[in-house]
Amino acid sequence: MSPRDEIIHSDEFGNKAEAFEAFDDIPTNPNLSTTIGDVINTRYGRRDVLRGALGVSATTALFGTSALVAPTSANASTAADSRYIFDELRWGNDEAHHIAEGYNADVLVRWGDPITADAPEFDVMNQTAAAQSQQFGYNNDYVGFAEIEPGRGMLCVNHEYTNEEVMFPGLGRQDRDGFKGMTRDLVDIEMAAHGGSVFEIVKSAEGAWSVNRNNPANRRITANTPMTFDGPAAGNPRLRTSADPAGMTVLGTINNCAGGMTPWGTYLMAEENFHGYFWSDVVDSEGKVDISAQPEAESMKRYGVPGRWYAWGQYHDRFNIDKEPNEPNRFGYIVEVDPLNPDAMPIKHTALGRFRHEGAEAIVAADGKLVIYSGDDNRFDYQYKWVSAEAVTSENSHFGSTLLSEGTLYVARFNADGVVDWLPLVHGQGPLTAENGFDSQADIAIDTRMAADALGATPMDRPEDAQPGPNGTAYLMLTNNSRRKPEQVDAANPRPQSNFGHIIEIKEDGENHSATKGTWDIVVLCGDPTIAEVGARWNPETSENGWFSSPDNCAFDDSGRLWISTDQGSGWGRTGKSDGLYSLETEGDLRGHSKLFFRCPVGGELCGPYFADNSETLFLAVQHPGTDGTKDLAGFERDSTFEDPATRWPDFEPNMPPRPSVVVVTKEGGGKIAV
Ligand code: FEO
Ligand code: CA
Ligand code: CA
Repeated sequence: MSPRDEIIHSDEFGNKAEAFEAFDDIPTNPNLSTTIGDVINTRYGRRDVLRGALGVSATTALFGTSALVAPTSANASTAADSRYIFDELRWGNDEAHHIAEGYNADVLVRWGDPITADAPEFDVMNQTAAAQSQQFGYNNDYVGFAEIEPGRGMLCVNHEYTNEEVMFPGLGRQDRDGFKGMTRDLVDIEMAAHGGSVFEIVKSAEGAWSVNRNNPANRRITANTPMTFDGPAAGNPRLRTSADPAGMTVLGTINNCAGGMTPWGTYLMAEENFHGYFWSDVVDSEGKVDISAQPEAESMKRYGVPGRWYAWGQYHDRFNIDKEPNEPNRFGYIVEVDPLNPDAMPIKHTALGRFRHEGAEAIVAADGKLVIYSGDDNRFDYQYKWVSAEAVTSENSHFGSTLLSEGTLYVARFNADGVVDWLPLVHGQGPLTAENGFDSQADIAIDTRMAADALGATPMDRPEDAQPGPNGTAYLMLTNNSRRKPEQVDAANPRPQSNFGHIIEIKEDGENHSATKGTWDIVVLCGDPTIAEVGARWNPETSENGWFSSPDNCAFDDSGRLWISTDQGSGWGRTGKSDGLYSLETEGDLRGHSKLFFRCPVGGELCGPYFADNSETLFLAVQHPGTDGTKDLAGFERDSTFEDPATRWPDFEPNMPPRPSVVVVTKEGGGKIAV
């Protein structure tokens, strides 16, 4: 997530509230009054729900910032029958990354590294948009891999957002300062640092991976890359702008968070917090943005447009809604990229709906249909899945397939009895009619959130990554929700003011991912299990190193074991732990047992993870090291900037700010991870 989303939600880190008060990313779901506040949690009991209500103040009191340094040596605390065979890493937080003993964790590529044959070498003091558009972008999030042959393939990496305070010398957080230091040149560098990178990597005979700059298919995708629309909203009047009167093409993709790979090896980029890039100069008497005169006002309100997180709209009219009111309707989709064909224009698949897509993890269901799970990462928003109309065949398994334009989008309703209903977002069915403002399927594709509101979907605690797994299962990362009030808890979101998040397991009926009904259960309630008020639930075998907070991304290895990476944001002070990668048992006596495998440098969140190469290689993405809450770690009490040589983070890399990077994990001597 972006700290700009977090800025107005962070309770204990001081002075973050003011700047964005007027543009608060508050929950935008109007249905909250209909949440069943008195649902008794039939699985965990009312008492546990109430215990959770006490968690925040108690935890904060126990973990002051002076108590946040922990030992870093590895220790072995392994439950006897764990399927994850590695010596658990010791928890902590410092300027380096750490991996369990017996593994290599090597930086493969960092922000600014050249990824094409013609790219200039990185010069952090003399950045240009032209150079950045040939170099690895900023804040790597999703990592996917399209294998060409064993030991060679295309790495596909999302670049979610930018942090000017650690990118540009002399600038602090611009969103806190009215963007006074921004210029057109800097904005253009930011736009070039967004999007994605697609480039070849190769494995040496010794087992080390490296970037091959010389594959002509290597490319950067940025906020200016031309792309097309397909699906029900393509060409709709609400997608038309002065630059694109047909509503069929758009420049760029932004805030690409998690994503997925299709069974046919294309790369799906999820557009998440697109609202933050839009600008308006129209303000009310109190200086707050006033969208009431906008023709799209109702939709803009539900989506949080304009967020004014960046100054792009001051230099590029399409990001200013006063000039281009339809441009926001052209973001918030799933984008498909062909990693092997640089001439293939990426496609925004509007059929999969428009919301703050966290990810897009695909699986072929038992009945042969393609199913893609995608969460809408906002407090009190929803979990979705897409089911293709046709079964996957060799004929339709290709870039731009109708498998991603013809099908049904569903939203989840989690019932208190443990049943999940997938509600179809289909025009003409139920309330989704012209009388209720949905003139066609295009309106449902554009205003997906409002259609889901009308169906009575369950408002969740920020749905992040959702990973389909073996035997019709899916695992949902609910990262946290500090704004859920005690009267708003429900069975699937059982803790009020949850700072720690939880994980839900779905078992689709008939072990068929395309089923419209299934059962659900909570695997773990995250947070410190030794503090009763937190209300955490882990397998009792979980050690002090193994429990975690704020699950974000997840992946299965090829043995069907689940791995989870975390994003606590600036709130890591609540646990004292840096973000990291954890294994999580989902079956048997050890269900709910977690072990720490890797942890991030201070201030970073961990993204990826992605297993490749028969699970002998694991790709991890260390996002924004040295930013989130770094000043709260003893010895690092300064803002994240590199204007002064004394604050250039020499512990990370000499004469450089901390750089987001993709880390490749292998086992010493080779072999599968964790076996
Ligand atoms: Fe970009 Fe929801 O994390
Ligand atoms: Ca995320
Ligand atoms: Ca994932």
